[in-house]
Amino acid sequence: MLVTGAARGIGAAIAAAFAERGDTTFMVDIDGSGLTQHAELLRGSGGAVHTMTASVADTAGVASVTAWVEAHAGRLDILVNNAAVPFRKAFFDTTDHEWDEVLGVGLRGAFLMSRGCWPLLNRPGSCIVNISSVHRNRLLPGLAAYGATKGGIDALTKAMALDAAPYGVRVNAVAPGFIDTTPDWPPPGPTRDEHYRQIAERVPAGACGEPDDIAQAVLWLTGPQARYVSGTVLEVDGALAAQAYPPLKHV
Ligand SMILES: NC(=O)c1ccc[n+]([C@@H]2O[C@H](COP(=O)([O-])OP(=O)(O)OC[C@H]3O[C@@H](n4cnc5c(N)ncnc54)[C@H](O)[C@@H]3O)[C@@H](O)[C@H]2O)c1
Repeated sequence: MLVTGAARGIGAAIAAAFAERGDTTFMVDIDGSGLTQHAELLRGSGGAVHTMTASVADTAGVASVTAWVEAHAGRLDILVNNAAVPFRKAFFDTTDHEWDEVLGVGLRGAFLMSRGCWPLLNRPGSCIVNISSVHRNRLLPGLAAYGATKGGIDALTKAMALDAAPYGVRVNAVAPGFIDTTPDWPPPGPTRDEHYRQIAERVPAGACGEPDDIAQAVLWLTGPQARYVSGTVLEVDGALAAQAYPPLKHV
């Protein structure tokens, strides 16, 4: 399996879940030192772990990734397009460069990686999973570029599922809600307490999810139990996206 954006957060948890069950795991990230650090923790945990520092946003980077996987394994059974750039700014203040970077990594990157890996993946039973977001169709101020990326990921997932279905390849997405990927931020103290209090107030399940909650969803979606599941977006968000708004307290 191959996961992008694997140096930290959700991508690192996805790599860990697959490596721990014994899969050969290819980890790609633009952050080489984070990647090396995380891969060291996984070595010896199960399957072989390989790392490559590359950007998913450019064709040359993706070509080097696919050549590397081909040289090591000759094939790929699972691709997880997880890399993205978190970004929050009103559309009227967003520069061309910022727009291109956010969509270039999060949306173009998923397309480039999927197209590049297709010759390695094209076999019945293979899967692609794209990481979307609750913000794919539920927005907040400042999410024009990020929301367009994740809305685009939904459409890309469904369109790729249709193209891939005749070949026995499944394509799905996972849409996380609040996932606790920054345990050191905010630092311990009143701001941190307030941060978690506000999240608990907004999420029906009453707390953030863990990166491993997303990894477990990816394991299931790529496993034999989900053999007839394709073209879908699985929300893993403690019912956040099901809610119109947090209930009024006085009613
Ligand atoms: N954390 C959340 O609460 C949350 C919620 C909804 C959706 N998501 C989505 O889940 C995924 C992972 O989120 P996260 O919080 O772990 O993100 P993160 O920002 O902690 O990690 C993203 C990783 O992608 C890498 N990356 C950035 N640009 C890259 C490039 N050009 N090529 C290769 N790698 C690159 C970064 O170096 C980083 O390691 C993202 O797609 C994100 O949009 C996260």
